[in-house]
Amino acid sequence: MTTEATAAQGFTLARNAPLRHRNTLRVDAHAAWLADINDAAALPTVLEHPALRDHRALLLGEGSNVLFTRDFDGAIITLKTRGVEVSDDDPAAVRLRVEAGEHWDDLVRWSLAQGYAGLENLIMIPGSVGAAPMQNIGAYGVEAGEFIETVDAFDLHERRFASFTHGACEFAYRDSVFKRHPDRWLITAVTLRLPRAWQPRIEYAGLRDELRRMGCEHAAPFHIADAVVNLRTRKLPDPDVIGNAGSFFKNPLVAAAQAGALRAQHPQLPCWPAAHGLTKLSAAWLIEAAGCKGTRDGDAGISNRHALVLVNHGTATGAQLWAFAQHVRAGVQARFGVLLEPEPRIVGAPAAAPPP
Ligand code: FAD
Ligand code: EPU
Repeated sequence: MTTEATAAQGFTLARNAPLRHRNTLRVDAHAAWLADINDAAALPTVLEHPALRDHRALLLGEGSNVLFTRDFDGAIITLKTRGVEVSDDDPAAVRLRVEAGEHWDDLVRWSLAQGYAGLENLIMIPGSVGAAPMQNIGAYGVEAGEFIETVDAFDLHERRFASFTHGACEFAYRDSVFKRHPDRWLITAVTLRLPRAWQPRIEYAGLRDELRRMGCEHAAPFHIADAVVNLRTRKLPDPDVIGNAGSFFKNPLVAAAQAGALRAQHPQLPCWPAAHGLTKLSAAWLIEAAGCKGTRDGDAGISNRHALVLVNHGTATGAQLWAFAQHVRAGVQARFGVLLEPEPRIVGAPAAAPPP
């Protein structure tokens, strides 16, 4: 790896950069160019550097939702900008304008420490604030999009700054306008609106029981945060211990009739009502029932703790992980006729390819 530009110019640039510590699946891929940008205002000039102007761009945060199936021959761009601006003058809500390079989990913990409630169910989700709108991160019955008022971005096609209202973000389950147009808008900051009127959100299966187990009868935001931390720690493998990207597949959304037919054959299959009259099925249950939980091929496998988590037991390549994911997808499709869609960004292979 060689390093070229300097921090004084608002960015650092490396050539033939290793990515193993830039993705939580710990895939040992390389990028032809890697730029860390420290000043969003400098983007128009920084992006004129020939390494960035003349190569295909891939936007990367902390790499907790990406699978590199091979080396990337273009320029990876990461925003390292930090800072939170608080607007506390509205009696109905507090607003936080957060730079893209902040860690999401730090933001959640900091906001709770300030007494700003709302994000507690979203504690312990890895990754950057800039990536949060991308797939509208969600957990324990809450989605980040519910709180996102505006998203500021740099449009890499038009070469200008742009701002998105909540409506323009088109948030849906693990989806947004940004996810449907990858690498078009580099998200620079996110403004969250946290209403002062607060209601606990504890309907998600297991959350109420965990609060009860903790001896908590009247849940305050920090109790809910503690309960979510307990559940997540029990259920999900830690990427610092074993490489993974959280859920590798989305929970499939199917027509109510298909869900009904599956439930008639498999009454234990967990289902939830979803938008547009669709039904959300548990991908974890489908994968476990297809016999894939805890299985592996070399160092690529499915976690024995959670069936939705693809894991790298050591030195699996991105191609091996992707091949194993396709094997799992084929198993679920053969058994249940349901095609699972990957949740992470698949770099270097078509994510929507049908299973072999
Ligand atoms: P990356 O992985 O770097 O990138 C993800 C996508 O966002 C890519 O398409 C990338 O191009 C794009 N992107 C990144 N930064 C920007 C930017 N500034 N502008 C534009 N595009 C950008 N997700 C959930 O929703 N809920 C969970 O409960 C959850 N649990 C997880 C648990 C574990 C253990 C792990 C490893 C992951 C989990 N995830 C979860 C997935 C992941 O945490 C989120 O998707 C997170 O938002 C990814 O952030 P990142 O900075 O790592 O993004
Ligand atoms: N289940 C199994 N086998 C398993 C694990 C789960 O059958 O090994 C079944 C159980 O019946 C369980 C159900 O699946 O009740 C749901 O499991 P869980 O509560 O763990 O949620 P999930 O649907 O598997 C989703 C998100 C997670 C998020 C949790 C909590 C998706 C794709 N995943 O998982 O998000 O943390 O809910 O809200 O929507 C991520 O996106 O990376 C992620 C981890």
